[in-house]
Amino acid sequence: MKVDGKPYRTIWLGADGTTVQAIDQTLLPHKFVVRDLKTAEDAERAIRTMIVRGAPLIGAAAAYGMALAMATDPSDAMLAKAHAALLASRPTAVNLRWALDDLRALLSPLPPAKRREAAYKRAAEICDEDVEICRRIGENGLAEIRRLKPHGDRINALTHCNAGWLATVDWGTALAPIYQAHNAGMPIHVWVDETRPRNQGASLTAWELGKHGVPHTVIADNAGGHLMQHGRVDFCIVGTDRTTRRGDVCNKIGTYLKALAAHDNGVPFYVGVPYPSIDWTIDDGHREIPIEERHAHEVSRMTGRSATGEVVTVDILPEGSPAANPAFDVTPARLVTGLITERGVCTASEAGLLSLYPEQARAA
Ligand code: MRU
Repeated sequence: MKVDGKPYRTIWLGADGTTVQAIDQTLLPHKFVVRDLKTAEDAERAIRTMIVRGAPLIGAAAAYGMALAMATDPSDAMLAKAHAALLASRPTAVNLRWALDDLRALLSPLPPAKRREAAYKRAAEICDEDVEICRRIGENGLAEIRRLKPHGDRINALTHCNAGWLATVDWGTALAPIYQAHNAGMPIHVWVDETRPRNQGASLTAWELGKHGVPHTVIADNAGGHLMQHGRVDFCIVGTDRTTRRGDVCNKIGTYLKALAAHDNGVPFYVGVPYPSIDWTIDDGHREIPIEERHAHEVSRMTGRSATGEVVTVDILPEGSPAANPAFDVTPARLVTGLITERGVCTASEAGLLSLYPEQARAA
């Protein structure tokens, strides 16, 4: 997507052929800064501190982290060390494990001298594949949006967190259908949940929709149910960090509450799901997905621009009040209207997913 007229991806290989570059998402929307990642430790830190975030981008950054490790030391010991360190950087998004296991399976049988080149090549392929997956999710989601409003009337979407191009390599998952609808001239408007505590909606989704000229309004996280009761939301669409075999959807904390409100109000609730976000090894999202607990400071503090233009962080809790910060929740499959994948749209169920991914059927 373009930032002030210049096309960008969220992550790319620098001109020297070794350094990886990424947009620093901790500074948006106030500053646009590109960071250099020169080592596997830099990649691990970028994921852990959320310089890069969003499940597909975490996977892409981890793949480049393995390449950076191989550029430093292509030994078996380094391969194992980089895999373990990157895997521990964030627990919930399954794209991380998917990308790391993919790279390890590719690199392990190769002689060390060939690993660097192979790792960079595969990391670049993962990025290109992600762009294509997201583009197709956009196409499939657009068809669904056209079905909801066949006469081309104004349509109001609601999204939570950031599952736009910043969360992927390009296009996004939940926002890809919205970009495609906007590009096709449909009158689409997006309610953007601010997404406390880190405000990915207010800081990132609003920023990228604004840069692309998509009409949007930021709302407090608590406003969605009210808007749905008053018929002001035609559909909800979110991303996912991990979707289970039977269609339970783990995503940013607060997604579940939106799905409950959507269900109660008969509002369709869609999830953009790229295949690397599906965890075929588990069924029950509620019991089996590790939920990241992040630092209480993300709840007790807020960062923003002061009247003088300075970016400042302030405490908002009474001194001594503890805070808890579970970062994700699980929306049970029964609350999800459809999973929008790169292969098409299906029900949130094992049968639905297997209709699109028959190769994942368990051996009888
Ligand atoms: O903690 P974050 O910002 O990495 O969480 C991001 C989300 O929850 C996204 O909705 C999800 O990763 C899907 S991104 C296409």
